[in-house]
Amino acid sequence: MKMGTMDSCPCVIERIIKRIDQMPGVRKEGRPLFGNSFCRGLRPIALLAITLAIGFAALPGRVVAEEGDVDLVRGEELFALCTQCHSSDGGGNRKVLAPAIAGLPAWYLEMQLKNFKEGVRGLHAEDTGGLRMYPMSLWLRDEADQKSVAAYVASLPSVELAGELEEHGNAAKGAGYYAVCSACHGPDAAGNQAMGAPPLTGQNDWYLFSSIQKYKHSVRGGGKGDMFGAAMIGMVKTLPDDNAILDVIAHIQSLEK
Ligand code: HEC
Ligand code: HEC
Repeated sequence: MKMGTMDSCPCVIERIIKRIDQMPGVRKEGRPLFGNSFCRGLRPIALLAITLAIGFAALPGRVVAEEGDVDLVRGEELFALCTQCHSSDGGGNRKVLAPAIAGLPAWYLEMQLKNFKEGVRGLHAEDTGGLRMYPMSLWLRDEADQKSVAAYVASLPSVELAGELEEHGNAAKGAGYYAVCSACHGPDAAGNQAMGAPPLTGQNDWYLFSSIQKYKHSVRGGGKGDMFGAAMIGMVKTLPDDNAILDVIAHIQSLEK
């Protein structure tokens, strides 16, 4: 679907990405985002995103979903914004660091959209991908928007993904490492809502790698109030080095149907 109001969208997004990436604080070591000058630097971006949000909230021809409602039509409209980075089929795009989201469970999508919007995830100065996703989460005005787009994305068929990592691990060794992970993510890596653990199958290998690396360095999971992310920071300590990470990913990929 295409909407006239969004024709200028990609270049706006490119500008946002460029501005975030060029900021002096980004990718510098050990600089917390909140309470320093970089935080002030982010404000214009947040304002721009909010301005966009107000613009997009006035999408034509829709009756606004009521609080708590799941409106798949509204969800599909909102998804048009996401495709710029996450691809039209929701299968992700490594070039812009955006992972596959199609077919992820709605509860997990909602949880992450909330995490980004509340600044629990994605604001660490070294989190290049998170810093791109954060302003996008502000486009979703309220919980009804989050629920609608989450329900729509969850309804999309998961995309068959080609492995993109240059180096590959040993799946048999990875099965040993995965024993710990299976307690939450399940033996088949299909995820477990009660544990807050998302499915790991059907996800881009490069994104699994980068997420595990981020947890290792508390770039993800160290945000204030990120209980679930903090749990993962503890768990990745069981993977001693990059080879172990590649091994566990090889095992996860061997679980795909
Ligand atoms: C400007 C590019 C961009 C746009 C537009 C965008 N995203 Fe993202 N999104 C990203 C990036 C980059 C990440 C990876 C963040 C990371 O590495 O932690 C991400 C991560 C996510 C995640 C976390 C996935 C996971 O497995 O934890 C969800 C959910 C998500 N995006 C949903 C959306 C939705 C829904 C929209 C549309 C409303 C959207 N995104 C629009 C770039 C974008
Ligand atoms: C105690 C339960 C638990 C265990 C054990 C666990 N995880 Fe997780 N995992 C989670 C939770 C909860 C999340 C969501 C965290 C967040 O919101 O950032 C998660 C998220 C992830 C993600 C990010 C997925 C995405 O879509 O962004 C990856 C990758 C991951 N775990 C891999 C592993 C691996 C590999 C192991 C074993 C070494 C493991 N996990 C062990 C609970 C667990």
